[in-house]
Amino acid sequence: MDSTAVKADLAHVLYTKEEIQARVAELAAQIDKDYEGRDILVVGVLKGAVMIMADLVRALKSHLTMDWMAVSSYGSGTQSSGVVRILKDLDSDLMGKHVLIVEDIIDSGLTLSWLKSNLESRGPASVEICALLRKPEAAKVEIDVKYVGMDIPNEFVVGYGLDYAEKYRNLDCVGTLAPHIYQ
Ligand code: XMP
Ligand code: MG
Repeated sequence: MDSTAVKADLAHVLYTKEEIQARVAELAAQIDKDYEGRDILVVGVLKGAVMIMADLVRALKSHLTMDWMAVSSYGSGTQSSGVVRILKDLDSDLMGKHVLIVEDIIDSGLTLSWLKSNLESRGPASVEICALLRKPEAAKVEIDVKYVGMDIPNEFVVGYGLDYAEKYRNLDCVGTLAPHIYQ
């Protein structure tokens, strides 16, 4: 099979591999500067954040440890409701740690808003958020996100960790799907 088979399902590429890599490197430089040699506990939210986690931590020069959480947010269809269930909790104790939550995308903000308060209740020294993408027009709650890769229009996107029916996570770019795929 041609390696471009999965890319052929895209209607439009929003960000290329090169653009994503360049932006992730900028975010890493900013994070290294802000944490100034303090150890970071980087928490990836499964499964979407796998790609940005892998690239971000390799670009960071700070000492860090990695941990993972899986959450599911209940709602009707594709809409997030803000009611979140933990499918896989962290292995680490957060007491006194500088926690950086890494997410693929912020849509309504409900999932991350819940997650941030949940982690803050475990006694960490700090909790910040890094998200590759954010949809400002979809925001339902105010949420303080210190590191954002790119703001995008309110459209469903796939690639670089983001899925449609669990597919397309392996794309190295981010784009919108051709309508015939989901219609
Ligand atoms: P909320 O609304 O709580 O939701 O901020 C965030 C989660 O919703 C998923 N999501 C998407 N997944 N393409 C995707 O593949 C999208 O355009 C998209 N928008 C939201 C995602 O799981 C994210 O963690
Ligand atoms: Mg996600």
